[in-house]
Amino acid sequence: MLLEIEGLTKDFGELTAVDEVDLQLEEGESLSIIGPNGAGKSTTVNLITGLLNPTAGTVRYRGEDITGQEPHEIVQRGLSRSFQTASIFPDLTVERNAIVASLGAEHGSFSLNFLKRLTGYDDVAERARQTLEDMGLYEQRDIKAESLPYGDKRRLEMALALASNPDLLFLDEPTAGMSPEETDATVDLIERIKEERGVTIVLIEHDMEIIFRVSDRIAVLNRGAKIADGTPDEIRGQPDVQEAYLGGVEI
Ligand SMILES: Nc1ncnc2c1ncn2[C@@H]1O[C@H](COP(=O)(O)OP(=O)(O)O)[C@@H](O)[C@H]1O
Ligand SMILES: [Mg+2]
Repeated sequence: MLLEIEGLTKDFGELTAVDEVDLQLEEGESLSIIGPNGAGKSTTVNLITGLLNPTAGTVRYRGEDITGQEPHEIVQRGLSRSFQTASIFPDLTVERNAIVASLGAEHGSFSLNFLKRLTGYDDVAERARQTLEDMGLYEQRDIKAESLPYGDKRRLEMALALASNPDLLFLDEPTAGMSPEETDATVDLIERIKEERGVTIVLIEHDMEIIFRVSDRIAVLNRGAKIADGTPDEIRGQPDVQEAYLGGVEI
């Protein structure tokens, strides 16, 4: 099992944002987490990737308890995430952004394994280049990140998450605010990352068409609790999912 979450809970004062969530993920499986705004999706990812400490519960990655570890330790283990809000350095070029992200992960693997030689700058630059190419951003490498069109900025966020060479990548609403064309291109990229790099992807997404296209499994959150977990066909048929997520609309 790649990822195993048990009883994951996060209280913000009176509010239980994530409520005893259990979740399992096999390597190579495509999981989507869906649910209405405020359901606890982003908080769940923040708990898994170390940005927040859980109130209760455990997170296991490849059998090891990583609960409460620092974000940089978790990145070193091969978990990475893109953010719903911008995480790029606006004043740096696209290429510089990718190099900074690659360097961070390189130091990480070094500190985790002192026998492993720190790879040189050329390797880091090469990985940054490859990542930009994979994300269709290589042509824009000399442009300041802040000058990129919106869709390219969002793709750069994904590139930065990918630059650490993760085994498991969380994408939090990667197509939010994109035009239909940008959305299509981004979904194609997500599928390519999966196939060519063998990255296991957990996707938070609102667009049901995208979810049904890319998911092997769907977990549904509502008010912090997981109310359903199954294949797209299983999820489609569940009345409480339709009620919670779609206000009773047939899907
Ligand atoms: N840092 C925080 N402090 C207080 N409340 C928070 C914080 N982060 C999220 N919340 C609250 O937790 C709930 C879940 O939020 P979130 O995980 O962002 O939902 P989603 O991503 O599903 O839209 C919301 O009610 C939100 O307002
Ligand atoms: Mg969110």
